[in-house]
Amino acid sequence: MAWLDVAASEDLKEGDVIGVRAGRVPVALFRLEGEVFALHDLCPHGAARLSDGYVDDECVECPLHQGLVDIRTGDPKGPPIDEPTQTYPAREVNGRIEVDVD
Ligand code: FES
Repeated sequence: MAWLDVAASEDLKEGDVIGVRAGRVPVALFRLEGEVFALHDLCPHGAARLSDGYVDDECVECPLHQGLVDIRTGDPKGPPIDEPTQTYPAREVNGRIEVDVD
């Protein structure tokens, strides 16, 4: 495990998404019911960032073709996305958000 500091906890509000980098990896961070989740930020369908999308309940809607991805599991939940998005472990330590992309 290699935890990387990527953001301040206060920068990620409930039901929101922000785009960060964990080393070279672009990551979309989400907060649902107080918990932080991390997905690879590139949509599996094309050249769009999930962090530019819209949080809709438990899913993020891609801004380009409105495909849906489950924020907790990375599972595809709506076309045209038909493959999973990489998830990463995320945690909060002393007011900071850390992600493990190894
Ligand atoms: S690029 Fe995301 S749904 Fe097409």
